[in-house]
Amino acid sequence: MTIERILVIGAGTMGRQIAMSCALSGYQTILQDISADALSAARKELESWADSRVSKGKLEQADAQAALERLSESTDLVHSAGTADLVIEAAVERLDIKEQIFATLGEHTPAHAILATNSSTLPSSRVAQASGRPAQVCNMHFFNPALVMKCVEVVRNEQTSDETVSAVTDVATRLGKQPVLVNKEIPGFIANRMMGAINAEALNLAQQGIASIEDIDTTAKTALGHPMGPFELMDMVGLDVIDVIAQATYAETGEDADKPHPLITEKVQAGLLGRKSGEGFYPYS
Ligand code: CAA
Repeated sequence: MTIERILVIGAGTMGRQIAMSCALSGYQTILQDISADALSAARKELESWADSRVSKGKLEQADAQAALERLSESTDLVHSAGTADLVIEAAVERLDIKEQIFATLGEHTPAHAILATNSSTLPSSRVAQASGRPAQVCNMHFFNPALVMKCVEVVRNEQTSDETVSAVTDVATRLGKQPVLVNKEIPGFIANRMMGAINAEALNLAQQGIASIEDIDTTAKTALGHPMGPFELMDMVGLDVIDVIAQATYAETGEDADKPHPLITEKVQAGLLGRKSGEGFYPYS
């Protein structure tokens, strides 16, 4: 199947960068969101990201302009769905909203269209039935910042067809990503399970006063070669997102080790969500 037109749903942190990545790779891309403000904020951020790449000499001006021209925005889901060969849903992590979106997509996208969700907490089997075409549904999980991180987890559910896996894997490769296949739906897939284990240990070390968060982060970077320390990374991902991932994992496994950590819950309740709110484990100006 030839995929030429991609619809990305949700203009938040992930959706906007996934959409730009698609446009840069030559796909006609629509970024859809119910909020016109979110779409214009996304456009502004992507234009300034493209300008900075051009001024660093990492992107040709003509390629930046062509990508921004291939990318359009819309608040109208039904209309945007009509021409999509592939949909990547990156809306809020709420099952009721995703079910509604997948039902709309099932009704309004062309019959051949593949419907992927970027969700890290809701496996695609939860929304596949609502679409009416479960064989064409899977998770396509990108990482933050999506314009930079190479990994894309392609997660199949029990009904996902081989053709769907192959088409989504091909798109990820054309985006310049490194797709990995997750053969079974499991909470956290691969990356978030490993990240969760590191975060849990880092949070426990800090809570017990074994070391400061700065020194734990320094150790991760200088002893283990991680690009960021776990506290810096949690602040970047968003402590609310970390909390939602933990809640979803715990709901699924019921294991104490997966319980949301009290240090995270405390921060979220105080509105300290990380970089996006101006403060998390660290302050941001
Ligand atoms: N958006 C777009 N581009 C960004 C960016 C952002 N938010 N942050 C950094 N970049 C770009 C920079 O522009 C720069 O590009 P060039 O090399 O072309 O100039 C490049 O990334 C490197 O940035 P910096 O030099 O400023 O800083 P760095 O070398 O420390 O890299 C980083 C920044 C890429 C974020 C790096 O620290 C890193 O890889 N951190 C780990 C990120 C990570 O683990 N992400 C996964 C989170 S988990 C997740 O997303 C899953 C989930 O379900 C929650």
